[in-house]
Amino acid sequence: MTTPNAAPPPAAGLRLPPVLLPVADDLARLEACLRDGEGIEFDLLRQLLDWVFSSGGKRIRPAMVFGAARLGRADPEAVTRLAAAIETLHTATLVHDDLVDGAMIRRGMPTLNTRWSAGATVLAGDWLFARAARFAADTGHIRVMQIFARMLGTLTDGELRQMFGRQGIPTREAYAYRIYAKTASLFEAATEAAGVLMGAGPDDIDALAAFGRQAGMAFQIVDDILDFTSTEARLGKPVGSDLRGGTVTLPALIYLDGHPEAAGWWANGSAPDADRVEGVIEAIRGDADVLAAARDAARARLAAALDALRTLPAGAARDDLEHIARFAVERDT
Ligand code: IPE
Ligand code: IPE
Ligand code: MG
Ligand code: MG
Repeated sequence: MTTPNAAPPPAAGLRLPPVLLPVADDLARLEACLRDGEGIEFDLLRQLLDWVFSSGGKRIRPAMVFGAARLGRADPEAVTRLAAAIETLHTATLVHDDLVDGAMIRRGMPTLNTRWSAGATVLAGDWLFARAARFAADTGHIRVMQIFARMLGTLTDGELRQMFGRQGIPTREAYAYRIYAKTASLFEAATEAAGVLMGAGPDDIDALAAFGRQAGMAFQIVDDILDFTSTEARLGKPVGSDLRGGTVTLPALIYLDGHPEAAGWWANGSAPDADRVEGVIEAIRGDADVLAAARDAARARLAAALDALRTLPAGAARDDLEHIARFAVERDT
């Protein structure tokens, strides 16, 4: 077994999009917290932290935590711990997701599963989950820990549904639930828990949870679109891999609605042969109407997210949070 940093990663660092500048100082404090190796005696685990956090990532979820927390008064240290819990948990899910998907590249770097055995990769992911739980506990709020535990169950449920649902065409409802469970539940927990740390009332906490949930739905729909429209160089992860791996996402659902003959290739519960799948991927890439309809679905989720925010006090902090949510949809990376 090689250590993860046997070949040192390029110092890609954080590529902070301008929309995240209002929370730049918070994100800088977060970086220190994410990589803090104090108390970790096993050198391999310190190297693991460096490996998984040195390659950047958009930090969109912690940005939502910091952005939401600016709507009220919360202990900055507790907010940083919450943001670290959310980003560390996200990273743990990526470590496991890449193993499950057999992905070779993430954030422009070789995935852990290309360097370590499957068993070691699972355990590394588990260790990151444990570290995330510790950060959540560090907030000192039982309610935050409850939100965190509930969300982790939902997220794993979503990944399992995706795994066992492969090769079939899901209903729109099943697709929506799957992306809620695997992705939007984490965004929801991020903004809901930020509301708890602010001491917000029940209505405001509900509004923040709905905001995060809808923004997270939009975010995953866009991720599913980019899997067709973007490139590996731009995303730092494989493209075309959803359908190739047997996962039918929204752009494919929309395309297959209009092409019943192609939908028939999936009908018997087994995947069509590779040439047909590649043909469908190419067709979706070139179908502006399908891609526009999928973007519209993401924008509708964004509109619902911004609607939820409207009950919260207007001002610069709310505008900044709104911009972060818009970025989740308008991004091309
Ligand atoms: C990737 O999330 C996994 C999804 C839920 C789509 P991000 O696109 O936020 O990944 P990083 O953190 O920026 O690499
Ligand atoms: C993310 O979904 C699911 C997780 C909970 C990690 P994807 O499988 O679409 O994520 P990417 O595209 O590999 O980043
Ligand atoms: Mg994946
Ligand atoms: Mg994806």
